[in-house]
Order: sequence, then structure tokens, then C-alpha cells
Amino acid sequence: MTTEENSNTSDSLFKHIFKWRLPLSKQTKHRANDTKGSRKDENLSDDVVKIAEGGFSKVYRVRDSNTGQHAVLKEMSITEWSDTVPSSIIREISLLREMNHPNIVRLLNVQQRNIIVNLVFENLDCDLHEFIHRNDFSANPLLIKSFMHQILSALAYCHAHKILHRDLKPRNVLVDVSNKIVKLADFGLARPFGEPDTIYTSNVGTCWYRAPELLLYSEEYTGQIDVWSLGCMFGEMVSGQCVFQGAGQDDELIAIYSVLGTPTKETWPEVATSRTLVPSQEYAAIDLKRIVPRLEPEGLDLFSRMLVLNPNKRITVEAALNHPYFKDLNSKGKP
Ligand SMILES: Nc1ncnc2c1ncn2[C@@H]1O[C@H](COP(=O)(O)OP(=O)(O)OP(=O)(O)O)[C@@H](O)[C@H]1O
Ligand SMILES: [Mg+2]
Repeated sequence: MTTEENSNTSDSLFKHIFKWRLPLSKQTKHRANDTKGSRKDENLSDDVVKIAEGGFSKVYRVRDSNTGQHAVLKEMSITEWSDTVPSSIIREISLLREMNHPNIVRLLNVQQRNIIVNLVFENLDCDLHEFIHRNDFSANPLLIKSFMHQILSALAYCHAHKILHRDLKPRNVLVDVSNKIVKLADFGLARPFGEPDTIYTSNVGTCWYRAPELLLYSEEYTGQIDVWSLGCMFGEMVSGQCVFQGAGQDDELIAIYSVLGTPTKETWPEVATSRTLVPSQEYAAIDLKRIVPRLEPEGLDLFSRMLVLNPNKRITVEAALNHPYFKDLNSKGKP
């Protein structure tokens, strides 16, 4: 892997980086609420538009007035957490610098000015959440197939390099609309895996896309958590609705059981015998076709293999890439 190409692009694109006047939030805490969507902020110059604000960062789309090129700045303030650069920022930077894959967002540059760290990314048009809710995918099932294949390729790359994403959700996948390319983004919760007996914190990821082994507070997990999240995104692309919408960890698990059935000694022995959550009723599995009625049979087969409660029985990324659902795509994942 090389970052040479990235640095060349960043040199030409960001020669004038410091002329952009970002409203550096030195004293103020970032608001906890997300303010997604292209929103022009009065304090910003014409070349800067705030596109998102989360708990830990503000994200701006910036334009180089000399070249007309766009980039995206993710601004984080070190003092939001402590006096030192937080491990999540270091982790995101160090992992992204090493990544070189057509379906992973490119980190072009990193800047630090006092307490502000800016990650400079290539610009994409929108995230997958916006794309799903602005477009009717049902008219274009091949596009879903292509997006699924592209995301799986990026995940295979991450897992081959022993990196778990851990926060896969439509907001963290970016879309190049005209070229129909999707890219994984937001590696703030990602981390290396693979060392034997490594214990990880289980309180990661967004609840609606969180794998059941994480919801059950398992502290030993694998790349199969990313497969689960992608399975949820698959269902959302096909149906336009998030598949499991629980209001909190336990409720999310109930939402999952009410579709896939309560685990048994046969389906998931470890959990059935040591229940950390005993639902007030036993659920029987429903026919998954009811959730994604428009999905072709091979797609339904893949969907049902991705959403398997027991991670040991869930399809792997490699096996998913070779699933017959993708047989009508070329090797680049295009129709
Ligand atoms: N390179 C990019 N091109 C276009 N939009 C982007 C880009 N990077 C981020 N965004 C937008 O900004 C949003 C927030 O970015 P990101 O997920 O990296 O930050 P975050 O602070 O971790 O957000 P959250 O806490 O909501 O997950 C994304 O959901 C997406 O809408
Ligand atoms: Mg994010």
C-alpha cells in the first residue's frame, strides 16, 4: 500500500488550504445533534459549506477557488476529550493512511492547528442514507447488487488487513452518484483484530446495525459483526426501511428475535445456554421474503445468510463475494 498518490493530490489541491476560514470551535462544545444535509452556514465563506455535525466532528465541503476542485474537511477538536490527541483520531488517521482501495474513501491530508485536527478527504456527492431516501432503488436492482459487491470488496480488503470497521451504516458509506461508486468512510471506531484472545469493548457501532453478539455484550468478536451490519444495509437498500429498529440495545435484540426467532440450543448453543437476555416470550422466525418482497431469489438467499444470529454460521465476506447473486456483475462489481 502506498500513500504517494494521495500526497501528490493533496499537495496540488491543498496549496491554499489555510485561506479557508473555518469557524474553529475552540471554546464551544459541539452540539450532540446531527445536522445532516447541505446547509450553508452564515459564518462561512462561499467556498465552505457545512455538510454534517455529529458528536465529535464537524464536516465541511470546501472548494479551492483557484482550481474549482472540492474536498471534504472533518474537523475535530482535541479538547473535546482531553489534552492529548484522542486515540480515536490517531486510529482513524493511521488506518486510513494505510488504505488503498477504490471503495474506501481517500484521506488526502491531515492538518493540525493548535487544538483543531482536520482530516482532508476526497469529496463524494452524498452518503448512502441520503441516497437511499432520495432514490427508489426498486427501479434499479442491479445498482443495489453493484453497491453490495463494492462494499463487500472494501470489507474483504479491510478484513484481509486485519481491520474491523465496527460502525458500518448507511451514513458511513459515501456515494459518487454519477459514477455509481460507493466508498466506506468513518473509520473512527475501526481497529485492528486478529490477535488471539483479544478482548474488545462491545459498546461500539450504531444500535440499528449492531450484530446480536455485540448486543449480548460479547467481548470477543470478529469480522462477522461487519457482515451483519452490511446485511442490515442490504435490507434497507431493497425495502427503503431499516430492518431492525430497536429503541436501545435490549429492544434491538427483541426486534431481531421477532424476525429471526429466539436462538435455540441447535441454532446458537453458546447463547441459548447462557442467556444474558431472556425475552419475555419465545419468537418464531418469519419468512424473510416479507421484509424484502422485491428481492430476487438469489438476493434473498444471500440476505438470509448475512442475517444469521450465530456469527459462526453467518456467511463470511469472502463467501458472500462469491455468492451466485453477483454472477451478472463483472470483476469490478459493475453490471
Ligand atoms: N468525503 C466525504 N464526502 C462527502 N460527504 C462526506 C465525506 N465525509 C463525510 N461526509 C459526510 O459527513 C458525515 C459525517 O462524517 P463521518 O461519519 O466521517 O463523521 P462522524 O463525526 O464520525 O459522524 P457520525 O458521528 O455521525 O458517525 C457523513 O455521514 C457524510 O454525510
Ligand atoms: Mg459517521
